[in-house]
Amino acid sequence: MKTQIDKNLNLRNTFGKFATGVSIVSFLGKGNQPFGVTVNSFTSVSLDPPIALWCIDKKSELCESIINKKNYVFNFLADDQINLAVKLAEKDNHNLIDADCDIQEYGPILKNSIGWVACSKREIIEAGDHFIILGDVEEISSLNDKRNPLVFWSGKFQNLK
Ligand SMILES: Cc1cc2nc3c(=O)[nH]c(=O)nc-3n(C[C@H](O)[C@H](O)[C@H](O)COP(=O)(O)O)c2cc1C
Repeated sequence: MKTQIDKNLNLRNTFGKFATGVSIVSFLGKGNQPFGVTVNSFTSVSLDPPIALWCIDKKSELCESIINKKNYVFNFLADDQINLAVKLAEKDNHNLIDADCDIQEYGPILKNSIGWVACSKREIIEAGDHFIILGDVEEISSLNDKRNPLVFWSGKFQNLK
C-alpha cells in the first residue's frame, strides 16, 4: 500500500514532468531593500484586462511580506542566469543587493532578464499549502536577444537544445 510520503513524491514527480520557464519575483522589502525569490509558478491569466498569477508556499519566510506587498515584478530568466536562480531558491537568502538591478516604481528590475512584467496585487486566494497571488499587469518589457530561456523540468534546471 502506498504511504502518504510515496504519494507526495509521486505527485511532485508527476507535476515536475510539466516543463516551465523560471522567473524571479522581485520586490522591495524592509527599508526598501531589493528581494527576490525563484519561482516557476508564473502563469499568464488574462489579456484584457492583463492579469498574471503565481503561487507562494505558506511556509516561505517571504510569504507574509509578499502577501502584504502591493507591487512586485516577474523577471524571466535566460539560461546564463542559472546561478541567480539557484541563489534565490536558497532558504533565507533572498537579497538582491549584489544583483545587477534597477529599482523602479513597481520594484527591482533585473537588468539581464529576457523580459519582465510588473504587477500590482489584485487578489489572493488560499489554496492548500500555497496562496495564489493574482496581479494586474502594470508595465512590461521584453528583450529581443538570442539567449534561450532557463527551463525547469523533472526537478532540474535544463537548457533548451
Ligand atoms: C525552479 C524553482 C521554482 C520554484 N517555484 C516556486 C514557486 O512557484 N513558489 C514558491 O513559493 N516557491 C518556489 N520555489 C522555492 C523557492 O525558490 C525557495 O526555495 C523558497 O522560497 C526558500 O524558502 P524561504 O522562502 O523560506 O527562504 C521554487 C524553487 C525552484 C528551484
